[in-house]
Amino acid sequence: MIRKIIPKKTLEQSIFASFFRQVWTEGRLIFTRGINFRSRDNQSAREAYRKMQLREFEGINARQRWANWRTIPRNLERCLPKEAVFAVDLCCGTGHSTEVLVYYLPVESKILGLEFNPDFVESARKKTFKHRTGKSVQVSFRAQSVLETFRDSSGSELADASVDLVNSCGAVGSHFDPSMTAVLVQEVSRVLKSGGLALIDSGLPGTNKKQLVEIFEGHGFETLGSAKSSILDLFTQVCFRKKS
Ligand SMILES: C[S@@+](CC[C@H](N)C(=O)[O-])C[C@H]1O[C@@H](n2cnc3c(N)ncnc32)[C@H](O)[C@@H]1O
Repeated sequence: MIRKIIPKKTLEQSIFASFFRQVWTEGRLIFTRGINFRSRDNQSAREAYRKMQLREFEGINARQRWANWRTIPRNLERCLPKEAVFAVDLCCGTGHSTEVLVYYLPVESKILGLEFNPDFVESARKKTFKHRTGKSVQVSFRAQSVLETFRDSSGSELADASVDLVNSCGAVGSHFDPSMTAVLVQEVSRVLKSGGLALIDSGLPGTNKKQLVEIFEGHGFETLGSAKSSILDLFTQVCFRKKS
């Protein structure tokens, strides 16, 4: 099922158009507004995203949006849950990674997106998210840093061992150095149930794949595999399972 959908969804957006949109928007951001979001220092990256307008974010995130439709399903293919789940999408931006989770996870699932920029959260809240069957799925968002205790949209702390799946795209591999990822993993581990899944992106600018695996395996996770959008992709999303 997943293999049939990936080509359909990624053909809806041209990779060439997405790539050029990103390069054009990023160039304009740097040269006309002095905003450079490519930082492994998490605070600097967050500040840069805060200065962006929504249409600028949609531009610089165009390639990421295309890649999400290939990377997340390739990882889910090895472990797609059959029963409804509670999933958390870390650093969800305006919901480009959330829409892929909504599309694939079982229809009764609940999905919570956590994102630092409140304007991105507002934009995500206005979107309609549809499961592949066309049904609406329960999606909520909260503006917060994922380096703090995870909370739901009403501000209540997520309970220990209450989450089935955590996802991250375009974040840890770009904007979290290993010391920040070591902070993040503790909260991911706290909220995940035993056997819960963590799909976490890695990349040279932030935390690379080897460092990510070391950090997660050091916190009681086993590595199930990994996925890229294409062989040219410089980022890899690693699929972990929390050991019992
Ligand atoms: C490249 S975007 C990826 C968005 C989305 N995951 C996607 O795949 O389309 C990275 C996002 O991470 C967010 N971010 C970075 N550091 C964060 C933090 N500590 N807590 C919450 N969000 C963060 C940024 O505000 C930005 O929206």
